Amino acid sequence: MYFLGFDIGTSGTKALLITDAGVPIASSNSGYPLSTPRPLWAEQNPDDWWEAVVKTSREVVAKAGIHPDEIGGIGLSGQMHGSVFLDSHGSVIRPAILWCDQRTEEECRWITEQVTQEALPDLIANPVLTGFTAPKIVWLRNHEPENYARVAKVLLPKDYIRFRLTGEFFTEVSDASGTALFDVRHRTWSERMLLATSIPSDWMPPCAESYEITARVSEQGAAECGLAVGTAVAGGGGDQAAGAVGSGVVESGIVSTTIGTSGVVFAHSDKFAIDPQMRIHTFCHAVPGKWHSMGVVLSAGGSLRWLRDTFYVSETKSEMEHGRDPYDLIMRDAAGVPAGAEGLVFLPYLTGERTPYPDPTARGSFVGITLRHTRAHFARAVLEGVAFALNDTFQIFSSLGIPINEVRASGGGGKSPLWRQILADVTRFEHRTLNIDEGPALGAALLAMVGTGRFGSVAEACATVISTVTSDTPNSSRFNTYREINTVYTKLYPVLKEPFQVLTKL
Ligand code: XUL
Repeated sequence: MYFLGFDIGTSGTKALLITDAGVPIASSNSGYPLSTPRPLWAEQNPDDWWEAVVKTSREVVAKAGIHPDEIGGIGLSGQMHGSVFLDSHGSVIRPAILWCDQRTEEECRWITEQVTQEALPDLIANPVLTGFTAPKIVWLRNHEPENYARVAKVLLPKDYIRFRLTGEFFTEVSDASGTALFDVRHRTWSERMLLATSIPSDWMPPCAESYEITARVSEQGAAECGLAVGTAVAGGGGDQAAGAVGSGVVESGIVSTTIGTSGVVFAHSDKFAIDPQMRIHTFCHAVPGKWHSMGVVLSAGGSLRWLRDTFYVSETKSEMEHGRDPYDLIMRDAAGVPAGAEGLVFLPYLTGERTPYPDPTARGSFVGITLRHTRAHFARAVLEGVAFALNDTFQIFSSLGIPINEVRASGGGGKSPLWRQILADVTRFEHRTLNIDEGPALGAALLAMVGTGRFGSVAEACATVISTVTSDTPNSSRFNTYREINTVYTKLYPVLKEPFQVLTKL
């Protein structure tokens, strides 16, 4: 038997096929565009996700040379919070509004006023943030009433793929936690939030635990994706929770640092506990009856991609033409610059920020530029700035007494030895790599293995399949340099907050 995991990411979709011992045997990726029709807006066409699922699904089955009947179960994961609006025929009404879209400041304020700030920890365990789903629904009501009038269902990205694959509407607890309509403590939709926002409760799909089998592949889904009719589809997870399963972050004390487009520091939690200041998120974990805490930096790998596309245009083209990865060149440049980038500091708030500053108007900045600084310094400053931003969450975890016994690095950024070393030096936590680094797609496939009974629990699946291999140990002299620059870094946002707001209004 084999198991299939999908990750519907922001830059592309990945399909991963694993054996019933959890060993990857084939994977496939397919990219799609992200559109920014206005500054701070971010949208994608859900049909692009589906086309990528069709393509990658067929590709992994062909690469592995297996029969689709041999797939015992499918797990889905994907970018969280995005809103897919469907009409009563199941057709997409408008492009999905994504997790990194910042248009809903006004709607967040309105929703918070309806229930009061003080009630939010009890109701949803989190503040209402611009990236979350509920304010996107209210935005549609306020700005596109003709579209709003057609809505019959609102789905999260991976749950739209479930609908195309099986014809069923379903979600699961980890992704539902990021809608601002979900009672995270009791793992169920919050009737009070739905009522207060006048969002019809039947727009939201039924909600399962992440390992549960929610649906089976339909005739149409099977025909399009080259899969077998009736294959079990598990709940799956939001990319962060599924990624944590794929990294074995399923027990207290293990923390992960994941650098994809966003950057996330993630801790498992056996008990429901929230940050009284609500700087970090408390969501349901993909482990039944467990939760997790996380801090989210909106532009982590996204900052490096911006640097590549802005400062390394011709090199990117020529490296790609020669079949080389342009990021290797950027990493070599950055490695040639001393720690601290000779006093150049980068704030990675290119799409606003979430943790610890929930501020859609925050902007990216380079501070401290002198004649001496070269493009390579800018590259190093970007890597370091993202590490400082992630370190803010480590600081919050420590202040809340969240145990950090072991840190695992994952995601595209976690594959870079230089970036891992910078993370270790800035946070002063050793960062370990994993024997298999296949991220959320692996976690989703493991959840399907639990749902279909191959493993008795998520913990058993992770213990069997995942282990750590290498580690990057903090260097104390670089830590001292970084500590000084980190002090400067943390002073910059409070000073720039107001100018950022003025710039946003221009
Ligand atoms: C998590 C978050 C991002 C997206 C995209 O809250 O917004 O990590 O899931 O990866």
